[in-house]
Amino acid sequence: MLYIGVDLGTSAVKLLLMDGAGKILNIVSREYPISFPRPGWSEQDPADWLRETVAGIRELVEGFDRTQVAGIGVGGQMHGLVALDKDDRVLRPAILWNDGRTEDEVAYLNGVIGKEKLSRYTANIAFAGFTAPKLLWMRAHEPELFGKIEKIMLPKDYINYMLTGVHCTDASDASGMLLFDVENRRWSPEMMEICGVREDQLARVFESYETVGTLRPVMARELGLPAGVKVCAGAGDNAAAAVGTGTVGQGACNISLGTSGTIFISSERFGVDPHNALHAFAHADGNYHLMGCMLSAASCNKWWMDDIVGTTDYAGEQSSITDEKLGADHVFFLPYLMGERSPINDVQARGCFVGLSMDTSRPDMTQAVLEGVAFGIRDCLEVARSLGIDVKRSRICGGGAKSPLWRKIIANVCGLTLETIESEEGPGYGGAMLAAVACGEFASVAEAAARLVKVTGTVEPDPAIAARYEAQYQKYRRIYPALKDVFPALNG
Ligand code: XUL
Repeated sequence: MLYIGVDLGTSAVKLLLMDGAGKILNIVSREYPISFPRPGWSEQDPADWLRETVAGIRELVEGFDRTQVAGIGVGGQMHGLVALDKDDRVLRPAILWNDGRTEDEVAYLNGVIGKEKLSRYTANIAFAGFTAPKLLWMRAHEPELFGKIEKIMLPKDYINYMLTGVHCTDASDASGMLLFDVENRRWSPEMMEICGVREDQLARVFESYETVGTLRPVMARELGLPAGVKVCAGAGDNAAAAVGTGTVGQGACNISLGTSGTIFISSERFGVDPHNALHAFAHADGNYHLMGCMLSAASCNKWWMDDIVGTTDYAGEQSSITDEKLGADHVFFLPYLMGERSPINDVQARGCFVGLSMDTSRPDMTQAVLEGVAFGIRDCLEVARSLGIDVKRSRICGGGAKSPLWRKIIANVCGLTLETIESEEGPGYGGAMLAAVACGEFASVAEAAARLVKVTGTVEPDPAIAARYEAQYQKYRRIYPALKDVFPALNG
């Protein structure tokens, strides 16, 4: 049988066709726009996601035996608020995971309701990108629209709803709404009350590998697929990427370098970071995970290369950055182009280069951007280490992970052995694997991961480079605290 994995990302939807042995038969990617209506805001039109996903599936299966397609699994950008009215019309553009407009609502939730209560109800505190503060923002700023909300859903759940007609979500993605009691995998009555929403507006919660329904006949016709194709609940993109890289069970780690940068540590037991710097979420394998999320990771390099340097030749720009330069430069970059989530939780923080001098070159600044993101990941890793979690190895995936130089920098900055895997398509591959489990091809997510995910290479830290980076990291750590109070003044 064949399985379709969909990664509903921030810059594009990436789709792949996988056979029952895990072989990727085709890959398709289709971009859509993102709008930044004000500094720190970020929105997308769910109609764009749907149009490109439908067109992408049609393109993906072109030339293959469509009757063999058995299941679809979607991994999607997390936390986005999609609100539908009684006629299933989208009420406003989706407010995305990296949108920072909810500073006041986050202050209310964390300060007035209180972090202790939030953590007790949901295992997490409020961050600007989470869904609950967005609902409070809508209630305060768009009360008429808020009053019309009939269904609340996350980005990939909108796709699943359009495909199947079932208003569903999965435990991993629901975890990022701050409306979900993560430990018990059910909606939190207290949080619904605080946010002024009813349970009937929220989706039915499934495990990621469960079937939520089959294609609506109209969709099956549009996609040219059999009506019996099953759609599984899917997962938030990080949980889906973790499945796709085999990061399941106890204590496995995955770093994803996409638009966001995440470090994801899987766990068989529920656990909360007492500082709430790391998110405590459900995993797509039925267990749990801790995760740190940087809002801008590969997007920092993309911004630097595309918008500032003006090149598409990323490898060419990195070619002069040789080993002896690693950890030996004077330029630092704070990667806070959209503010930052983990671990500092500061929507006002901004990106900056520090330490420029007359001898600073373009490659020095390129290197600083790559290093700044690596230091941001290290910041999250340090929180995990402070909890006694001893991470020594990690898988790595996402667009940024294609750069051997960036992998080397991260391995040395973090002191981790990094493993690259055969399929770089983290969330899409994970989505297809979840669909395969839903269709009975594998007995569990763990079994699918053990059978399908293959490590193709490792990057070991080099003692000399790692020692230089240790000294650099200690300098880097002083920059944000020194600038923290300056950012709000700069932002007006
Ligand atoms: C995770 C997060 C991001 C998005 C990116 O908490 O906000 O990684 O899921 O798609």
